[in-house]
Amino acid sequence: MKYKRILLKLSGEALMGEKQFGIDNNRLMQYAKEIKAIQEAGTQIAIVIGGGNIFRGVQAERGGMDRTQGDYMGMLATMINSMALQSALESIGLETRLQSAITMKEVAEPFIKRKAVRHLAKNRIVIFGAGTGNPFFTTDSAAALRAIEVEADVILKGTRVDGIYNMDPEKNPEAIKFDNLTFDEAYKKGLNVMDMTAFTLCKENKMELIVFDMNQPGNLVKVVKGEGIGTLVAV
Ligand code: GTP
Repeated sequence: MKYKRILLKLSGEALMGEKQFGIDNNRLMQYAKEIKAIQEAGTQIAIVIGGGNIFRGVQAERGGMDRTQGDYMGMLATMINSMALQSALESIGLETRLQSAITMKEVAEPFIKRKAVRHLAKNRIVIFGAGTGNPFFTTDSAAALRAIEVEADVILKGTRVDGIYNMDPEKNPEAIKFDNLTFDEAYKKGLNVMDMTAFTLCKENKMELIVFDMNQPGNLVKVVKGEGIGTLVAV
């Protein structure tokens, strides 16, 4: 395996699978099995998951809701997904710990970096819920922040497209995929890799990022092996 410790970023929308809202159990179990495969291969795994399948703060703001309120609701949505994923992982025999950026000690451990690193060293899968715990940030920023804090080797951003393209491949069939990019190239080309906060955090801390298609079975193992799937963004 090329990477010893990874931070896997999953989108909340992806958990919907074929559904219009909420969590598709088949998709959840599919992800759990993919994660199990890399865990068994010896990879230390931290996970950040979004909440867009349940609630989106930005959209709520457009509907007239206070942005801060909407963002906190979004953070709670990520906790629901994190708990669902934790259950799915445990149902197939994996050891996990869930840490929340917002204190809710009846439900999850509070985020404590030193404890998270210890869990990872013991090969427990650590899920970081509630984003960064602050409004005006995204779960991409949470992924970048936590990856840097626990000294992950790479962020693996699982999406439904197989990498970064020069234009939206779902709208433009002639779109061209990049295999490798530097952060500067991605910025100059105006590519929408992550939000700027997350992007800058990664760049300044030399945190590599791979964008890949998480819905293709077997892809996660390939990425962790370093098989060149998806698009690698590095300094
Ligand atoms: P080690 O110290 O490395 O053995 O880690 P550990 O996680 O096994 O020890 P700990 O005694 O801290 O945790 C035991 C269990 O309690 C784990 O499942 C934790 O996730 C859980 N746990 C620990 N702290 C909290 C908390 O504040 N709230 C909740 N809900 N669970 C917690």
